Amino acid sequence: MVETLNEIESEGLAALQAADDAKAVEAWRIAYLGSKGRLKAAMGAMKDLPKDQKPAFGQRANEVKKALETAFKSKSVVAGSGGGAKPVAQRLDVTEPGLIASENLGRRHIISRVRDELVDVFGRMGFDVAEGPELEDDEHNFVKLNIPADHPARDPIDNFYVDDPATSERPRMLRSQTSTVQIRTMERYAAENREPPIKVISPGRVYRPDTVDATHSFMFHQLEGLYIDRGVSMVDLKSTLLHFARAYFGEDAEVRLRPSFFPFTEPSAEFDMKIALKPGDPPKWIELGGCGMVDPNVLTACGIDPEVWTGFAFGFGIERITMGKYGVPDIRLLFENDIRFLDQL
Ligand code: DAH
Repeated sequence: MVETLNEIESEGLAALQAADDAKAVEAWRIAYLGSKGRLKAAMGAMKDLPKDQKPAFGQRANEVKKALETAFKSKSVVAGSGGGAKPVAQRLDVTEPGLIASENLGRRHIISRVRDELVDVFGRMGFDVAEGPELEDDEHNFVKLNIPADHPARDPIDNFYVDDPATSERPRMLRSQTSTVQIRTMERYAAENREPPIKVISPGRVYRPDTVDATHSFMFHQLEGLYIDRGVSMVDLKSTLLHFARAYFGEDAEVRLRPSFFPFTEPSAEFDMKIALKPGDPPKWIELGGCGMVDPNVLTACGIDPEVWTGFAFGFGIERITMGKYGVPDIRLLFENDIRFLDQL
């Protein structure tokens, strides 16, 4: 096995030397250092090695990786600057895509990537993206969501109010949930005299003054869903969640609803998904979020006639999905932005 690594190193270095233009160097990078390249393939085979051979193999693999990367970096500079021996006129082609050493290639934050994947999956199911402000008022965060004035969720201690709720008529606050966007979307439809169907998801940041620990943060991300039409029922809700679970986590994912209570849905449920967090792991139930049929009071508050239209809503945390899918043990890791952590995702 170590011989394979030696071969990759000697052949790789020779092949890089022979690569004489930017295209060839890029093809070389893909063949040797790319995610489906020879080195990755060899490293993938490590899991089949007897235990006592693994450390030596791993160490040699790292050496070969470093050697190839170092050679690639110095080569890129030469290739990027025009390959030296070419006529002066060809030496600097400003239209040529830049060549960047692979280890310096940046990428978007894992939460952004997961959010976009979720938007993609729901997009294929016909959901548009709706957005709302992070600086909200209590009208959208609570009142129109049927959350009464004495509800504990409205306690100033549990919210980031910007105005004093005791003296201000419509106190502003950092939204504590993305359910606000349900309200804004339905209001917009009513104001524009548009009829449902309304089929939107709203990913975004929410804020709660929770004590920070491994599973709580004062800021996190939720994804809200809302579907209003004629004759929408719990069956549509559950099949939508199931369809999502299978599309995102794999064909054997399962969904279960547990009776619960939210002021803005009736009936309400919590939903869990049974998923294999990593390939090969046995599937496990994880609690994901809340859902239910939109309460008629909420529809009425937004100018939608509950005698004609019904709908479902759901909401879940994006961090929770990310931590499950990528095995991240502590939510704080997602926001400290330590490059050594982010590089692993
Ligand atoms: N907004 C709820 C929360 O932050 C989650 C939620 C529950 C959203 C039920 C919904 C729903 O749309 O129907 O805990």
